[in-house]
Amino acid sequence: MKAVILAAGLGTRLHPVTLTMPKSLVPVANQSLIVYAIEMLKGAGLTEIGIVVHSMRSPICKRLGDGQEFGVNVQYIVQAQQSGLAHATLLCEDFVGDDSFTVFLGDNIFQDDMHGLLTGFKDSDISAAIALSKVPDPERFGIAEVRDGQVIRVEEKPSQSKSNLAICGVYLFRPSIFEAIRTIKPSWRNELEITDAIQALIENGEQVNSYVIDGWWIDAGKPDAIIQANQLVLGDLDYTPAPVDHEAICGDSEVGPRVHLGTGTKVEHSVIRGPVIIGDRVTIRDSYIGPYTSVGDDVIIEGSEIEASIVMRDCQLRNVPGRLDSSLLADFSRVTAARDSVPAVRRFILAENSYIQL
Ligand code: G1P
Repeated sequence: MKAVILAAGLGTRLHPVTLTMPKSLVPVANQSLIVYAIEMLKGAGLTEIGIVVHSMRSPICKRLGDGQEFGVNVQYIVQAQQSGLAHATLLCEDFVGDDSFTVFLGDNIFQDDMHGLLTGFKDSDISAAIALSKVPDPERFGIAEVRDGQVIRVEEKPSQSKSNLAICGVYLFRPSIFEAIRTIKPSWRNELEITDAIQALIENGEQVNSYVIDGWWIDAGKPDAIIQANQLVLGDLDYTPAPVDHEAICGDSEVGPRVHLGTGTKVEHSVIRGPVIIGDRVTIRDSYIGPYTSVGDDVIIEGSEIEASIVMRDCQLRNVPGRLDSSLLADFSRVTAARDSVPAVRRFILAENSYIQL
């Protein structure tokens, strides 16, 4: 069985972070979202993976290469126009061939490894299966009505829903889905919806099964959702005792349990309360790093306090007044306050859709 990860979306709801970085490369607990998808697929023995990108120049191709680093074989399929998930799936027809396959949305992250769903489908006689999760706001998602485990109807973002089971981004198909996609028309948002193609399968009398996932699921399309995903992944980290590395930690620092420090990282006169993950070659001086914070490689944090946040690689925080909370800083961001500078001004260089709360 093959696997397809859809990662061609432009991620406009995550601007400015996604102006330079595709959504599926955004790090959660210092690992790109798409790598969680690859690990889940690999865990179920699916190592032939097609990734749909919007161009071969996408940083995703550079980051993942041929997949060897992750123990999988990756091929890229280009979807130059954002014409919907069903359109992206149709582009994978040659890659998939006569095989059954899974489609995975590259910006979704799950606690459940869905092992049974991913391994059991191939030898079953059902036409398709979809992963579902209960949500309080069904109008934001594709929604499924289920009877005795079988999906009897699906609808994309219904205004009035008969069900609270959202389609959560993991689909299992056979090549029959390609025929179904060829029969559907673009939706109100001018996209070929995979939900409509599944409805076409159902109307054609084919059996579509449901799988209600265990645990949390985040559609990490917005900054708040990314920050929440970071908290959930860090919250699931196994217990590790407080690191006792005297070379890395000095000057009355207090580093608690469930704190992962990368190599070459230095902590001076600082307090770090886990769960926290800190990358390689990071300097933390006279600072407080609170729970649920991820810090990427080559970051400098000096005279500052931060918690429940994501600081990506090569950022600098210096003498930031107050405590940063629930913040998302993309690569090479800088937040500084010059001590005792006159005039005491604030200065910002912001990209489109930047957000600052003072
Ligand atoms: C897409 C699908 C929708 C699904 C959702 C899951 O929505 O169309 O059926 O419930 O992903 O994240 P979109 O993110 O394109 O609005």
